Amino acid sequence: MANRGEQWSSKIGFILAAAGSAIGLGAIWRLPYVAGTNGGGAFFVIFLLFTLLLGTTLLLAEFVIGRRTNKNAIQAYKEIAPNSLWHGIGILGVVTSFLLLSFYSVVGGWILTYFIRSLTGGLTDPATGDFGELFGSIISNHWEVGAAHLGFMLITILIVQGGIQKGIERASTLMMPLLFILFLILVIRSLTLEGAMEGVTFFLQPDWSEVTSETILFALGQAFFSLSLGVSIMVTYSSYLSKKDDLVRSATSIVGLSVFIAVLAGLAIFPGVFAFGLEPDEGPSLIFTVLPAVFSEMAFGSVFLSMFLALLLFATLTSAFSLLEIVVATTSKSDPAKRKKMAWSMGLIIFLIGIPSNLSFGLLGEWLIFGDTFFNQLDFLVSNILLPLGALLISIFVPLKMSKSALQEELLRSSNLGSGFFQVWFITIRYIAPIAIAIAFLNVLGIL
Ligand code: PHE
Repeated sequence: MANRGEQWSSKIGFILAAAGSAIGLGAIWRLPYVAGTNGGGAFFVIFLLFTLLLGTTLLLAEFVIGRRTNKNAIQAYKEIAPNSLWHGIGILGVVTSFLLLSFYSVVGGWILTYFIRSLTGGLTDPATGDFGELFGSIISNHWEVGAAHLGFMLITILIVQGGIQKGIERASTLMMPLLFILFLILVIRSLTLEGAMEGVTFFLQPDWSEVTSETILFALGQAFFSLSLGVSIMVTYSSYLSKKDDLVRSATSIVGLSVFIAVLAGLAIFPGVFAFGLEPDEGPSLIFTVLPAVFSEMAFGSVFLSMFLALLLFATLTSAFSLLEIVVATTSKSDPAKRKKMAWSMGLIIFLIGIPSNLSFGLLGEWLIFGDTFFNQLDFLVSNILLPLGALLISIFVPLKMSKSALQEELLRSSNLGSGFFQVWFITIRYIAPIAIAIAFLNVLGIL
């Protein structure tokens, strides 16, 4: 169904909202700990390569589908390839977003709880003097993290049920630049800690001996995760774009911003890890132990920490909105009368499905599925299987089902780039992307 003529009110608004979906826990929470458990610098370099090469290409592919059709994530595929099964890509995107939000909101809840605690100053100065222990005691407190998890989902539902364009667009325009500034302050403090250089080396100097086939799949998954790719969210967001907008420029700005944040996050976290003698491979709790420690070394640290957590919460929410939005837009078939009901029912079901992920850090901590917790397995399924799979299908769909002339027209509209750029993009989406993703999959399965 058409999107009722809704449009972003300005190009920068769209870029910030799409960047808001992209920038979130992926770059700030997930990248540091996944890099930390997968060899540091080498992981980061591979992630960067995948982001610049495949990420940008796929982002443009999703934009082309969205703007060409102006339809939601399922209808868009139906319009381009009627009477076929290709809209399964949209359905896969909706299911993946649903599962992703179920554990994303758990971490969103941790940030909410950290933020609330930071307001009373209880974070920069833990009674035990041990930030790892503090994190452990917070997340095994089921009622607190449960309430925060629910609180995070309620905020997401409340915003999405009202139609998000104006709200997200306006808030993103204000808060994203603030997040950059606070990050810069944090990086400066982190880099000037004693022993910081060891962290910089860990993060920026690749040690190729650590690279395995899993590292490559993880880096690929991380690249898609941090650009919100493979789930047709970018199809949805670009369906609200006007024909005047330059897709290439928007895509490069979004990739540029999210890479910038990823580098800043690494430079903020790893020096702190080494300066405080922590372990880079401690997993999902990494930023929750390192950040309060770094802030506690700063003048007015608790004020800055609260501000930082508020902005991180915001970055997390803008990603969560996009995840719930795609579920609501498709299940309500873009019917405004059903939006409210769908936002509440889907949002609450996602919350319930997220409970085992939440309990993975407490009551269900010993419940292992194939050797890992429910939370970690669900994250693995979504990030390393479903996102790359969605991206693979999109990279097959676009050159197969859309004509070359339509693609060129859509991609280069309002852009001053020539057909040379189009050719490079076309070859990447048609050959390089599907082959690279397929190799990464087969490699991990041990087939290649
Ligand atoms: N890109 C978001 C982040 O980095 C997560 C996300 C993935 C959001 C896929 C939407 C779709 O936090």
